[in-house]
Amino acid sequence: MSKKAIVVGATSGIGRGIAELLVSRGYTVGITGRREHLLNEIKASSPASFIVSTFDINDTENVLEKLEDLALKLGGVDLFVLSSGVGKRNKDLDLEPELSTIMTNVTGFTTAVNWAYKYFEKAGGGKLASISSIAGTRGFGLSPSYSASKSYQIKYLEALRQKAKTSGGKISVTDIRPGFVDTAMGNGDGAFWIAPVEKASKQIVKAIDNKRGVVFVTKRWRIISILLRLMPRPIFERLKF
Ligand SMILES: NC(=O)c1ccc[n+]([C@@H]2O[C@H](COP(=O)([O-])OP(=O)(O)OC[C@H]3O[C@@H](n4cnc5c(N)ncnc54)[C@H](OP(=O)(O)O)[C@@H]3O)[C@@H](O)[C@H]2O)c1
Repeated sequence: MSKKAIVVGATSGIGRGIAELLVSRGYTVGITGRREHLLNEIKASSPASFIVSTFDINDTENVLEKLEDLALKLGGVDLFVLSSGVGKRNKDLDLEPELSTIMTNVTGFTTAVNWAYKYFEKAGGGKLASISSIAGTRGFGLSPSYSASKSYQIKYLEALRQKAKTSGGKISVTDIRPGFVDTAMGNGDGAFWIAPVEKASKQIVKAIDNKRGVVFVTKRWRIISILLRLMPRPIFERLKF
């Protein structure tokens, strides 16, 4: 019997790359997002391998119903990947983008990941992975809500990892921290070391397979993460991001 996965935020970018790679490796994949035409386009490429579920991750009650229903349609879930997320440069600190980023990256993220963890608890195990960002390492002035919300995700996933390891270790929790990946979101001014989606997806799926706790994508971003963490506050605060 084929393995089953859910990829939340599979309409484009990294989520789509992961969903397509999983299908090429024999998985049946439940794909979600708001842009239904893109979900249908993906399904058309291999109709028996994809199950489509359209929903907005910010619509809390609906998310829970939709995920439950998708798990039933799949006949179980072995792997859950959360890739949905938003991030905008917000130099003028407009309030609306700050609040909508928190809604998707904090409230939506928590709703979906919380569901997945409890699903795996009931099922007796599974693999949970979510895409945070290198941006969660420090607070960046170019988009305060983005770096703060990614920092929240990093801590939430760390907490789940601790919970899983002290509760029998049957659930693996992988925090994926990309630098820049070649998607609509990752291709702005000042981006460098931009990884193709295919390369990023391969590294992500390998890390999940190996039940890694934290993975930097691509690998060299680990160095940037260490440098950012070590950088003294007075120097960091003078950097123009
Ligand atoms: N690309 C990078 O350089 C980079 C770097 C670090 C971290 N990341 C993280 O990687 C993840 C994927 O980003 P990406 O680069 O692949 O960008 P993307 O192509 O814009 O993909 C974002 C995905 O999130 C979904 N999404 C956004 N808001 C949603 C909502 N309210 N409800 C349901 N789905 C929603 C989108 O689907 P719909 O619009 O169809 O709903 C889409 O499938 C994000 O969490 C991002 O923060 C990306």
